[in-house]
Amino acid sequence: MCGIIGACLGSQACMNLLIGEIIFNGLLRLEYRGYDSAGVAVIADELMVRKGKGKLIELNARLSFKELRGCTGIGHTRWATHGVPNDINAHPHVDCRKMFAVVHNGVLENFSELKRVLKNRGHVFASDTDTEVIPHLVEEHYYRTGNVYESFKEAVKTLKGSYAILLVTSLEPFKIFFAKKDSPLIIGLGEGFNLLASDIPAVLSHTRSVVVIRDYWVGFITPDEAFVEDLASGRRVEVKDYIRTVEWSLSEAEKSGYPHFMLKEIYEQPRAVMETLYGALNDQLIPEAIKLLTDAGKIYVTGAGTSFHAAEHFSITGTRLAGKPIISFISSEYDTYLPATGEGDVLIVVSQSGETMDSLKALRAFKRRGVRIIAVSNVIDSAIPRESHVTLYTRAGPEIGVAATKTFTTQTTLLTYLAVRLGEAVGRLDVGEGREILGNIRSAGSLVKEALESAEKLAKKMATAISRSSSAYYLSRGVGVPVAKEGALKIKEVAYVHAESYPAGESKHGPIALVENSFPVVFVIPNDSYLEALLLGNIEEMKARGAYVVGVGPEGSRTMELLNEFLPVPRAHWALAPVTHTVPLQLIAYYAAVEKGFDPDKPRNLAKTVTVE
Ligand code: F6R
Repeated sequence: MCGIIGACLGSQACMNLLIGEIIFNGLLRLEYRGYDSAGVAVIADELMVRKGKGKLIELNARLSFKELRGCTGIGHTRWATHGVPNDINAHPHVDCRKMFAVVHNGVLENFSELKRVLKNRGHVFASDTDTEVIPHLVEEHYYRTGNVYESFKEAVKTLKGSYAILLVTSLEPFKIFFAKKDSPLIIGLGEGFNLLASDIPAVLSHTRSVVVIRDYWVGFITPDEAFVEDLASGRRVEVKDYIRTVEWSLSEAEKSGYPHFMLKEIYEQPRAVMETLYGALNDQLIPEAIKLLTDAGKIYVTGAGTSFHAAEHFSITGTRLAGKPIISFISSEYDTYLPATGEGDVLIVVSQSGETMDSLKALRAFKRRGVRIIAVSNVIDSAIPRESHVTLYTRAGPEIGVAATKTFTTQTTLLTYLAVRLGEAVGRLDVGEGREILGNIRSAGSLVKEALESAEKLAKKMATAISRSSSAYYLSRGVGVPVAKEGALKIKEVAYVHAESYPAGESKHGPIALVENSFPVVFVIPNDSYLEALLLGNIEEMKARGAYVVGVGPEGSRTMELLNEFLPVPRAHWALAPVTHTVPLQLIAYYAAVEKGFDPDKPRNLAKTVTVE
């Protein structure tokens, strides 16, 4: 996730406004999307690029972005995916002859293949990014066609993955070319100028007239025109039919109109899981991680809070799909497990921030005993990735709400993919089942979207019922257990409801004593007929004691009849339960917090990154 902006000024606007200031101020508004490096390209007499590692304010002091002059320019604030944050990997990227400069937000799934072909054709690359293939591709087509827009379109047609792209060139100094798929992009329409940006706040101080660009749209802006075509249908798009006026205030706009970051981040999950998957499919470190795991003596997986729930999910899926026992533990409890570890073992450390002290301490202690470490993190180059042997990154983008939401679904998407690849590598996973899970992971974005649409109707009602109670249980079995734990943690954190989560079979060994009339019990029902049959009995037990029983389960589940409320989620392989079933639980927690008048973005006593033991 990164922020991009472009400005194309007519002669009058160019006299009144400084392009450097427009781009810099726009980037400041987009800095929440990433902040490890930034850069600007402007067309003055020629193409000029300034970029570097660091935060915008520091970079501006060094590179004077704000003073840049010209009528056309683009800017980027980066959240690293491919390539560590440094000066060279910062955007914009250029081709061999420095004719084209490109900024990009997204992940290109096929960049390695494209890069190989381009290198064979003599292109020289400067960075480790996926983005750099774009200016070289345009350059390659330009030699043949002599037409910038046609070359740009040809280049875009070869890209797989997600992208919002802006390109400027000194060959056509009054145009910015753009394309979009799966990453956000808008046009801001002004009087004598036009803008492009990842998000509305970046243009709001200049115009309230915007067009939200749809997937597969490609085109260019000039100071007076926005030309758009739809690559999917091959038709020209009538821009005037899509113009809308933004009524939000600036602070509302930073949340894209959502009242809280938590809700915005819940709704970002379809895109976040797909970007994570695109990244994983293309990640050359996955085979390395699989090799470590297949050769491992014992496999451990750890994390704290939500990341521990993702770790537990991997322990269940890995054990079931690969037939290898995988031991999960809460990172602050690492001492207990240490005496049994040694050379040849592997520890997977899951941490969105990559800085959690409990997880870092577990990592260091295991490493000292010769254990190989695989990190799963959302923040490139943070402490845990730096100290690990192999790091696999989720691509959720910065998470601002303190309660983890999109980082959990991205962690579990990545770890489910890893479990499947491990199952294949050790020859334990049936080919058909492997294909089914991979097919489901590839459509994880749509599954989350469907779950969101379905939950939107019922989550508020369930939230009202649960938030009126001071206590609730979240129960499940097998693969549903970490999901139930995550649901309980969410409502505890943001709505301050005392929620406990157990494997459902355990509830009759004590917890059921608390159940009386209207006591809320939330059941997470995985798409697994064996587990579902067992849960039917547990639901009956709770109902018999007057509990208000609520279920989140696959459409058409047999449990529907028994439950007071049933929230259907799309049917997918059981291993994808965290992707399909977590979303409704996040919404229930969110609405419960709002109903009780709490700010879900800033729960009391909590910090986003816990760097103390
Ligand atoms: C829960 C939450 C925390 C974190 C935990 C670990 O909503 O945000 O429980 O999951 O502090 O943080 P990371 O993943 O950064 O190691």
